[in-house]
Amino acid sequence: MKIGLIGSGEVATTLGTGFLKHGHEVVLGTRDPAKLSDWVKANPKGRAASVAEAGKFGEVIVLAVKGTAAADALRAAGANALAGKVIIDATNPTTDAPPEHGVLKFFTTLDESLMEQLQKEFAGARFVKAFNSVGVACMVNPRFAGGKPTMFICGNDPAARGVVAKILDQFGWETADMGVAAAARAIEPLCMLWCIPGFLANDWVHAFKLLK
Ligand SMILES: NC(=O)c1ccc[n+]([C@@H]2O[C@H](COP(=O)([O-])OP(=O)(O)OC[C@H]3O[C@@H](n4cnc5c(N)ncnc54)[C@H](OP(=O)(O)O)[C@@H]3O)[C@@H](O)[C@H]2O)c1
Repeated sequence: MKIGLIGSGEVATTLGTGFLKHGHEVVLGTRDPAKLSDWVKANPKGRAASVAEAGKFGEVIVLAVKGTAAADALRAAGANALAGKVIIDATNPTTDAPPEHGVLKFFTTLDESLMEQLQKEFAGARFVKAFNSVGVACMVNPRFAGGKPTMFICGNDPAARGVVAKILDQFGWETADMGVAAAARAIEPLCMLWCIPGFLANDWVHAFKLLK
């Protein structure tokens, strides 16, 4: 598939490399493509471009920017370019405030997630929350003694969730499909939980698993 990633940080570059590894075509979109020169050198099959180009290029879009910039970044891609496309939303609505006892602060409430806000504004796109509840070191084909980790996903379009579940399978995850976009109210805060051992004990290598 053609994957357009919006972002230039460690999530966009890690997932970009992961998509290339799994045989997809990859364009990373940023306001400043020059800052991705090291990534392009290390990933010669990938390309760095503007956000608008990445948005146009991708059959599937990955949104991997700072949560406070998510809507602006999508506006730069253009609602028309995104219409009908699956948007894998890896963002979290964290603020710049320092964590309290290891607990990050969000700018959203538990009654409306960031992804629901984005889905409302970009109504033609098909958002699926994924990859937000794990750190970059464990995003692509992670290996844990406890077995395959679980990625919790949600989004209003079942077919879009199916597309993302197939990608997660390639990336070495089992998928727990939590249904419509409102479930992001629960999935986004998993990021807070995931980060606590990191902030308290510098432990950044772990993932969630749903046992039945
Ligand atoms: N780091 C992790 O392990 C991790 C794990 C899971 C989820 N996440 C989430 O994934 C997202 C990306 O995280 P990250 O650590 O890779 O990067 P980040 O440092 O949170 O964000 C960097 C990206 O945000 C964009 N950005 C910042 N301010 C902007 C603005 N005013 N307008 C437009 N774009 C702006 C930058 O765009 P330009 O390239 O144009 O400068 C850059 O691509 C975040 O929402 C984060 O919460 C992170």
